[in-house]
Amino acid sequence: MERIPVAVLGATGMVGQWFVRLLSRHPWFEIAAVAASERSAGVPYGEAVRWIFPEGIPEAVRELPVVLPRPGIPGKLVFSALPAEVAGPVEEEFARSGYIVSSNARSHRYDPDVPIIVAEVNPDHLGLVELQRRKRGWEGFIVTGSNCSTAQLVLALEPLRRRFGVEAVVVVTMQALSGAGFSGVPGVAILDNVLPHIPGEEEKLAREPRKIWGRLTSEGIEEAGVRISAHCHRVATRDGHLEAVSVKLSRRAELGEVVEALEGFRGLPQELGLPSAPERPIVVRREPDRPQPRLDRDVGGGMSVVVGRIRPCPVLDWRLEILGHNTVRGAAGGAILNAELVVAKGLL
Ligand SMILES: NC(=O)c1ccc[n+]([C@@H]2O[C@H](COP(=O)([O-])OP(=O)(O)OC[C@H]3O[C@@H](n4cnc5c(N)ncnc54)[C@H](OP(=O)(O)O)[C@@H]3O)[C@@H](O)[C@H]2O)c1
Repeated sequence: MERIPVAVLGATGMVGQWFVRLLSRHPWFEIAAVAASERSAGVPYGEAVRWIFPEGIPEAVRELPVVLPRPGIPGKLVFSALPAEVAGPVEEEFARSGYIVSSNARSHRYDPDVPIIVAEVNPDHLGLVELQRRKRGWEGFIVTGSNCSTAQLVLALEPLRRRFGVEAVVVVTMQALSGAGFSGVPGVAILDNVLPHIPGEEEKLAREPRKIWGRLTSEGIEEAGVRISAHCHRVATRDGHLEAVSVKLSRRAELGEVVEALEGFRGLPQELGLPSAPERPIVVRREPDRPQPRLDRDVGGGMSVVVGRIRPCPVLDWRLEILGHNTVRGAAGGAILNAELVVAKGLL
């Protein structure tokens, strides 16, 4: 099969590099263009990027000249890892010009006609792009992935929501440094420390699951009524967000049923056999000291979430720890899986 040419916007950043790494060995997609800021434009990718991985820069991309993110660049499908401050109008321009944009930025997540997709959880919300195209008169469209902490939370809780209903969630996050971008948190601020505030994060975590778990209607998404209380912290791990979660279910569940629901869960990406879909989207660990970011973040190539310490909660119903790879499942990998879903559903 001939591979589909794609472009990466923000290709020199933390998430952008993950896109380049994952796409360079992708069976369906082939990187045709890399875009970044004025700082990098005009020079070969290999010179513009401060490469973060131990293996070398993929040969096919190293010599590609970095361009500015403007329509006209090759590729029908565009992956956006631009900062939110610039992504809004740029992504719109691409969609207006007929490109399909799979974005990691928050700029359009809350637009009523733009879906936030976590592929195993709400693949049906891709139906919203019809409304988007009709309303805006665009040939292309924008699909977003959720905030990184949200992606792993909604994925891990999805089997419980389907089987028992989820009414309320209290979540305390311990979020890795890579989540703040390449030059996000200064070393002197985080070394020997925990930062108890990540600007905007608690609001995103309280808001996005309600849209993702909402019902698609002909008018848009009817948000779910679940109550969410989030406490977000930045900690000195490199990759992998850990979340301590308490959850209130609508119906009573036994421990065995909870574990069975989590371990048995498979979504549409698994049914379709999409290339980035992990065989097991949720992996349950039984040891009392797992999951841990350093040991468990790469399970399923970083696309599985790992759940452990499932135990009763004396305030809500159940407590559990959820770990997800923030730059893979919570960013580049999630957006690639969403694009695979777009292709599989014949929307390209
Ligand atoms: N990190 C995560 O875990 C994570 C998770 C989910 C979502 N996100 C979202 O993904 C996006 C990227 O995050 P990141 O962590 O990868 O950020 P980052 O490391 O700061 O990278 C930003 C990228 O955007 C480019 N850029 C900056 N200003 C630009 C401009 N005016 N025009 C064109 N390109 C510009 C940069 O290019 P230069 O190198 O040329 O400056 C770089 O390639 C953000 O919207 C973020 O919120 C991140």
